[in-house]
Amino acid sequence: MKPNLQVIQGDITKLDLDAIVNAANTSLLGGGGVDGAIHRAAGPELLAECRTLNGCRTGEAKITKGYRLNARHVIHTVGPVWNGGRSGEMEKLRSCYANSLRLAAEHGLTSIAFPCISTGVYRFPPDEAASIALSTVREFLREPGSIQKVVFCCFSEADRERYEALLQ
Ligand code: APR
Repeated sequence: MKPNLQVIQGDITKLDLDAIVNAANTSLLGGGGVDGAIHRAAGPELLAECRTLNGCRTGEAKITKGYRLNARHVIHTVGPVWNGGRSGEMEKLRSCYANSLRLAAEHGLTSIAFPCISTGVYRFPPDEAASIALSTVREFLREPGSIQKVVFCCFSEADRERYEALLQ
């Protein structure tokens, strides 16, 4: 069955899926934005497990349990900080989506939600980020695998409209 893509506007920490993706930093020790929200909702055991992971490089992804979240797992990925687009930011953002999906598929997960990685504190242009997110997810889902549902969980109305326009 063809995997389905959905766009919603809401708080990713509420979603009852196999995994939600965290827009983390290289320390994996929490922060603001969606990172802060996920750690607050998951509780202190999430940070305790993150401490054992020895950080995460930009574009890479690591998986933990979800603890007090509805989601069974959190996939932590580190997006690029926008620096004008001349230091490989596009490719690094593409890697965040591809590596998060690869990790989910390796664990046989069937459903995953992404926030708009790098478009907050890391200042990545939101239109370009949405286009990279969708094209990378579509490309990955061409290959058979366990993933049946990908949710783009937008926090803002503007982002939801961005993704919906691209999904048409
Ligand atoms: N649910 C879904 N999306 C959210 C939520 C939430 N609860 N809270 C924030 N967002 C959205 C933001 O509105 C933005 O669209 O997540 C997107 C990513 O923004 P940030 O969280 O600022 O992440 P990013 O730009 O990747 O910067 C990462 O910020 O919080 C720190 O530790 C983090 O250093 C890292 C940096």
